[in-house]
Amino acid sequence: MSIIKLAPSMLCADFTQLGDQVRQLEAAGADILHFDIMDNHFVPNLTFGPLLIRHLRPLTKLPMEAHFMVTEPTDIIDEAAKAGADMITVHVEACLHLQRTLAYVKSQQVQVGVALNPATPLDMVQYVLDDVDYILLMSVNPGFSGQKFVPAVKQKAKDLSRLIAASGKDIEIQMDGNVVPANLGELAQTGVRAFVMGSGLFKDYDNIAAGLAAYRQAADEFEKTLK
Ligand code: DX5
Ligand code: ZN
Repeated sequence: MSIIKLAPSMLCADFTQLGDQVRQLEAAGADILHFDIMDNHFVPNLTFGPLLIRHLRPLTKLPMEAHFMVTEPTDIIDEAAKAGADMITVHVEACLHLQRTLAYVKSQQVQVGVALNPATPLDMVQYVLDDVDYILLMSVNPGFSGQKFVPAVKQKAKDLSRLIAASGKDIEIQMDGNVVPANLGELAQTGVRAFVMGSGLFKDYDNIAAGLAAYRQAADEFEKTLK
């Protein structure tokens, strides 16, 4: 089993054949399906809600992650959990009472994650380490796929790895935003263990299987360096 998890962002899938894309992603070895839920308020874009998770849920056994880019998401957290999300991620910057929101997510019997925009300091999560299963570092400003990687996030990932190690807790680091096979190894070295893949997977390759194979190869090469 690979220690690196690959999480395709459904935002970049072909919406005319979503069911088929889910089956292809599972067959190609994806680990998590990532759903980018945007409200045109927290971010300047509007996508879909938990309804999409509900419709795709019966098609796959893969864990589904709802990445809420939504101001004060509390009201729709239980909807996402009921729709079949296994992991729910909320943004530090979008939740005024962050610890309360994280505890509420946990009460829905799902894994709970907290996301940070590129410019948000790690101090913002220092006192909620007891409340999360994973931390998602945005490596682009949220709202759109296909943006440029923000390089300072590499140092941030290293610093977060140290913070987590010092806490002694088992918290996974995810990264989301312009992850491609060419930078995956370098990012994995900083301690990131789950990678969201949008345009790099769905647009740079002829098909899903070829794209996922390229990411998996990069992950395997990184894992060899650990032995
Ligand atoms: C951005 C979303 C990402 C996005 C990733 O706001 O959270 O999940 O779809 O797309 P790429 O990999 O193209 O940056
Ligand atoms: Zn995302």
